[in-house]
Amino acid sequence: MKKIQDFNVKEYKWLNDSSYVIVLQSSYPIPEIKPGNFAEIAVPNASDVFLRRPISVLDVDRELNTLSFYIKVVGKGTKKLSELNIGEKVSIIYPLGNSFSINGIQNALIIGGGSGIAPFVLLGRKLQEEKVNVTFLFGARTKEEIVLTEEFSKYGEVISTTEDGSMGEKGLVTQHSVFKGDFPFDKIYTCGPDPMMKAVAKIALQKNIDCEASLENMMACGFGACLCCVTETTSGNLCVCTDGPVFNSKVLKW
Ligand SMILES: Cc1cc2nc3c(=O)[nH]c(=O)nc-3n(C[C@H](O)[C@H](O)[C@H](O)COP(=O)(O)OP(=O)(O)OC[C@H]3O[C@@H](n4cnc5c(N)ncnc54)[C@H](O)[C@@H]3O)c2cc1C
Ligand code: FES
Repeated sequence: MKKIQDFNVKEYKWLNDSSYVIVLQSSYPIPEIKPGNFAEIAVPNASDVFLRRPISVLDVDRELNTLSFYIKVVGKGTKKLSELNIGEKVSIIYPLGNSFSINGIQNALIIGGGSGIAPFVLLGRKLQEEKVNVTFLFGARTKEEIVLTEEFSKYGEVISTTEDGSMGEKGLVTQHSVFKGDFPFDKIYTCGPDPMMKAVAKIALQKNIDCEASLENMMACGFGACLCCVTETTSGNLCVCTDGPVFNSKVLKW
């Protein structure tokens, strides 16, 4: 069940000049968090950032009562969250949204770009527990934007593409050689910019493979009240915050 809870900033780790991991700690127990769940984080002391910001849970430690978030600075809210003092109070509503499904699969391909890598630490760990072979394919403009590879490699092989060729194969994720020749995967999970997810969904359709996409539509309330996050599906308009953020790509009318 979702709750509003105060956390304190425990630590920051900058990964490059525009993204960081923030660890928040609570004095109270943390409920179960499923891969794909997100939180609505209030930005403290910021009168010009009124709405909470939706951010996927990167990791959880239920012994230390900590939640971690991977955040890319794109505007005022994500910048102000990077400037809090250690110990400062942050209110969050969580856990929100649905989660990825893991049914009888053997080889999963996880494709992420931008802030869309965030839900995949919890997913990779869960898939490993379920004895599923995991390959992570991450795409970015340059090698500096490919981050947290050490963490992801605990759960599977990490491969990548960069647009400038500075790491992995040169090009876009959908141009990676993993899509050529034998394709051992029976499930694709993806999160990142819409054009990337659409291209991935198209490949999944061509290969007749199940694909789940976690959408990052803009949100306000985060729990189904304002309808500002709707996406068009084969079942009509659905709220990304409550019916998603994870959808089977076949139902999405992008
Ligand atoms: C379910 C969900 C999970 C998310 N998880 C993460 C995460 O783990 N890490 C992370 O860094 N970000 C994540 N995001 C995106 C994040 O919520 C936005 O980047 C953030 O709200 C922007 O706030 P801001 O105040 O910094 O930017 P704003 O000042 O609000 O906007 C700055 C610019 O970013 C654009 N923008 C704002 N929100 C989005 C969005 N959702 N998608 C695309 N463009 C946007 C605006 O149009 C504007 O151009 C997630 C979004 C959703 C819906
Ligand atoms: S963000 Fe308000 S209904 Fe989804």
